[in-house]
Amino acid sequence: MTTPANPMQLPQKSCALRVVPQPSDANVHGDVFGGWIMAQVDIAGSIPSSRRANGRVATIAVNSFVFKQPVFVGDLLSFYADIVKTGKTSITVEVEVYAQRLSLAQEVVKVTEATLTYVATGSDRRPRLLPALE
Ligand SMILES: CC(C)(COP(=O)(O)OP(=O)(O)OC[C@H]1O[C@@H](n2cnc3c(N)ncnc32)[C@H](O)[C@@H]1OP(=O)(O)O)[C@@H](O)C(=O)NCCC(=O)NCCS
Repeated sequence: MTTPANPMQLPQKSCALRVVPQPSDANVHGDVFGGWIMAQVDIAGSIPSSRRANGRVATIAVNSFVFKQPVFVGDLLSFYADIVKTGKTSITVEVEVYAQRLSLAQEVVKVTEATLTYVATGSDRRPRLLPALE
């Protein structure tokens, strides 16, 4: 059997998060719940945000969220998170999710793309100015 041509590769940049969905993350049809993916995307986006804020952040908005392809139990999911905009207290992050299918390890599929905004917060949970870049 020949290997199918696969033009899609994982991005050549550091990955915020990698995770394999389990049977408990699936619906009755065996596909992974969108809500589970949204939670992982939120975690992935919070990683560069917390780093930029040098402390705690809260998610204020999910600006866009597209499920482009289904996710299956056993897929290896890689989450890439890039800061695309910062304001006085806010950080907007684009998250892209790629799946490597269990049955076809070489196959890479972009399954989700989303944009979320986080706000740097203090211990009082109120907005806090972002620290200056060094
Ligand atoms: C995050 C929180 C502390 C912000 O407080 P707030 O008084 O609403 O914030 P502000 O109106 O001062 O806005 C703060 C920043 O968010 C931005 N912002 C506000 N609403 C936004 C929206 N709908 N989309 C994108 N950015 C938004 C503002 O433009 C501002 O950015 P800037 O300082 O860079 O200019 C507050 O909204 C909160 O606690 N929300 C709940 C957070 C949470 O629990 N998230 C988890 C999911 S339940």
